[in-house]
Amino acid sequence: MSALAFAVLRQLADGRFHSGEDMAQVQGCSRTLIWQAVHKLENDFGMTVFSVRGQGYRLPQAFELLEVARVRAGLDDVAANVWTLATADEIDSSNTQLMMRAAQGAPHGLVLAVERQTAGRGRLGRRWQMPLGAGLTFSVLWRFDRGLSGLAGLSLVVGVAMVRALRSFKVPVQLKWPNDVLLNGRKLAGILIELSGDALGPAAVVIGIGLNMQSPGEVDQPVASLAEAGCQVGRNALLAELLNQLAAVLATFDREGFAAFRNEWTDCAAFLQQPVLLRFSHGEPVAGVALGVDDHGALLVDCDGEQRVFHVGEVSLRAAS
Ligand code: BTN
Repeated sequence: MSALAFAVLRQLADGRFHSGEDMAQVQGCSRTLIWQAVHKLENDFGMTVFSVRGQGYRLPQAFELLEVARVRAGLDDVAANVWTLATADEIDSSNTQLMMRAAQGAPHGLVLAVERQTAGRGRLGRRWQMPLGAGLTFSVLWRFDRGLSGLAGLSLVVGVAMVRALRSFKVPVQLKWPNDVLLNGRKLAGILIELSGDALGPAAVVIGIGLNMQSPGEVDQPVASLAEAGCQVGRNALLAELLNQLAAVLATFDREGFAAFRNEWTDCAAFLQQPVLLRFSHGEPVAGVALGVDDHGALLVDCDGEQRVFHVGEVSLRAAS
């Protein structure tokens, strides 16, 4: 039924009315099945579909599905040489899929962008869910030769790429250590980085990004969306620009590490010189004043006059107030 629901969505994507009869004819199925697919779009995928007697079904507005050709059209020369693009309608998680494919020898630069994840994952074991079409969910596979230990600061560098891309569309985003993208102090996007490889040898890294374009509905923390910043960029164009910036920063990071981005990251950072609270998967929270980051992307915090260093890992940070 998911496959039919996506086929129906493609028919409705122009935002115009389509009669159940026409749709059934195109899909080669009964009108009852079309009706069930529309219900799936509404009930399972969180979409609104108008149904008007005598006219048929219509979406509230035109809907831009992910299309490899449209993403490719927005890539610059460097990015076009780096990325191999793939899309999927529905899978468990783009990170899970790319980690599996990485283990099977998938190439450096593979991108998987997904319309709907059934088991999207966030940091610290959280879930990542988004109504269909409300944003972007994608992962990229990057193979590094600097060893796992040389990858400290990678998540901050990915944040820098996202800031560059989003600010090019005039969205005034900031970064929250280690890897959230904030708009108006609320979470606009999250980054999940997963690694496999050797301490000193080749490493496969999967970088997963989830970004809210429309309001994602009820979630367990304050969130923001591109729509509230008045940004009307299409999903394919936005994905292309994110991939352009990622290709550029990852190549520099590969050669020079995080130190090359330390100043830029600091300029984008929220909460610097402010009271913060650090929470860990184990142990007591730590309060202090965020001072900045070191050349490896570790957070420097003034805790009652003592400077402490916190490495990216099972840590989450929030404003203390
Ligand atoms: C976080 O803020 O906790 C990170 C969220 C990362 C979500 C993205 S969506 C695409 C990719 N696939 C996943 O399962 N997770 C990441």
